[in-house]
Amino acid sequence: MNQQKRIIAVVGATGAQGGGLVRAILNDPDGPFAVRALTRDVNSEKAKALARLGAEVLSANVDDEASLEAAFTGAYGAYCVTFFWDHFSPEKELAEAGAMARAAKAAGIEHVIWSTLEDTRKWVPLGDDRMPTLMGKYKVPHFDAKGEAEQVFRDLGVPTTFLLTSFYWDNLIHFGMNPKRGPDGKLAFTLPMGDKKLPGIAAEDIGRCAYGVFKKGKEYIGKTVGIAGEHLNGAEMAAALSRALGQEVVHNDVSPETYRGFGFPGADDLGNMFQFKRDFNADFRAPRNRENGRALAPSLLTFEQWLARNKGRIPLE
Ligand SMILES: NC(=O)c1ccc[n+]([C@@H]2O[C@H](COP(=O)([O-])OP(=O)(O)OC[C@H]3O[C@@H](n4cnc5c(N)ncnc54)[C@H](OP(=O)(O)O)[C@@H]3O)[C@@H](O)[C@H]2O)c1
Repeated sequence: MNQQKRIIAVVGATGAQGGGLVRAILNDPDGPFAVRALTRDVNSEKAKALARLGAEVLSANVDDEASLEAAFTGAYGAYCVTFFWDHFSPEKELAEAGAMARAAKAAGIEHVIWSTLEDTRKWVPLGDDRMPTLMGKYKVPHFDAKGEAEQVFRDLGVPTTFLLTSFYWDNLIHFGMNPKRGPDGKLAFTLPMGDKKLPGIAAEDIGRCAYGVFKKGKEYIGKTVGIAGEHLNGAEMAAALSRALGQEVVHNDVSPETYRGFGFPGADDLGNMFQFKRDFNADFRAPRNRENGRALAPSLLTFEQWLARNKGRIPLE
């Protein structure tokens, strides 16, 4: 059976985005694709779990172009993503994107999805001091290099869909964005965006949408598609959290400047990111409409639906 199916090679297969795509493909056994899950360690528990679910599991490292080319060979499609928070280096992301693009070209991949974000310097040039320049030449380092890397895929003529992802609601579980108890004992959800809305998504739905993009064939090649489950402001997210958790959560609306000063690794990058999303809210929200996402993944979750499934996993400190 699998011989007739076209193979999608998935970078980051044991992670959030890639894992969602692996599961979307495996959950559709009558669909047109088989999945090749790429990992640095085929013997890890997560890799073995994917193999048990029916994925082909292959070793590859985004820092090793030859391993990527070998892993992409024979595949029809490839899902390409980088891992900023593992190393905090936009230069590394650019190099890794280059390696993936060249490997895809060499292997003759017919459809790449590049998991991207805006190069915010198109909105806030480096000389614009409304937010600080970081690492010498970035405004939002974990966004800018992903956006800059789009040109690498274009220049090589790799048939690519540029998938503009959104804030994972799972950041409330894994990324320190959970509501925290203030001195008054009340839970507060910090989002430095005033009353502006934040496009968000269940991380698992990114992979489901990517699967939808691959299923559409050539329709999205050369195009940018943005996805989000819902756009909500801080007060709306706090209200939804209050309902789901059964206790009051307030919106802690600090300024981006205060957020940058929180001092944890990447606080300055995230402070700039939230400021960009606030100050260019219409531009940021426009491409990420829910209808795009629903056309690709009809089961796309709303925040309330995501909370109903995940509220027990949100740490409450
Ligand atoms: N958090 C958000 O709200 C959000 C929103 C939009 C975009 N993003 C972006 O999403 C990206 C991360 O994606 P994710 O959340 O899916 O990652 P993730 O869940 O952290 O998964 C990363 C997986 O990638 C693999 N990996 C790490 N380094 C690798 C390497 N050198 N070569 C090959 N595989 C490697 C690891 O698997 P093995 O150990 O099995 O190799 C790991 O399981 C970041 O760049 C971030 O900026 C995040």
